[in-house]
Amino acid sequence: MQNRFYTVIICLAIFSSFTYAAQNVAGQKYYLKQCSSCHGKGNRGGGLAAGYEWKEYFKNNGKDLISFHYDEPKVLKYLKSKKFKKQQKKILNFLIEFASDSQGIPSCNN
Ligand code: HEC
Repeated sequence: MQNRFYTVIICLAIFSSFTYAAQNVAGQKYYLKQCSSCHGKGNRGGGLAAGYEWKEYFKNNGKDLISFHYDEPKVLKYLKSKKFKKQQKKILNFLIEFASDSQGIPSCNN
């Protein structure tokens, strides 16, 4: 009986970490589509900045991000679009997860 209880707990823990990861898959997808052509694929994007810096950059609907890209009309268009407003939270979560000051390796307890 005890064993079964622990099995349920462990399954719940695994399941909830999957749903957590799934959110970031969306963020990664948006990043790959909108940013990776210039900033690199995979985990390298988040390494551009530290977690707290990313939070700053995404404040005020990406005001700082917009200012970094004044010479990149395609990025500007995306950053000012409704699409970005909808996707920015997921991109931010993804970037923070792989930020230069994060451990970067997903483990059992996060
Ligand atoms: C068309 C190419 C291009 C795309 C796409 C692009 N960027 Fe950039 N990005 C640049 C350039 C060029 C700079 C300025 C580089 C520099 O000053 O070192 C820059 C600078 C930055 C910086 C500042 C980095 C630093 O040196 O401090 C950040 C952060 C950043 N971009 C994030 C993003 C994010 C997030 C996306 C996706 C929404 C994105 N970029 C998409 C070209 C691009």
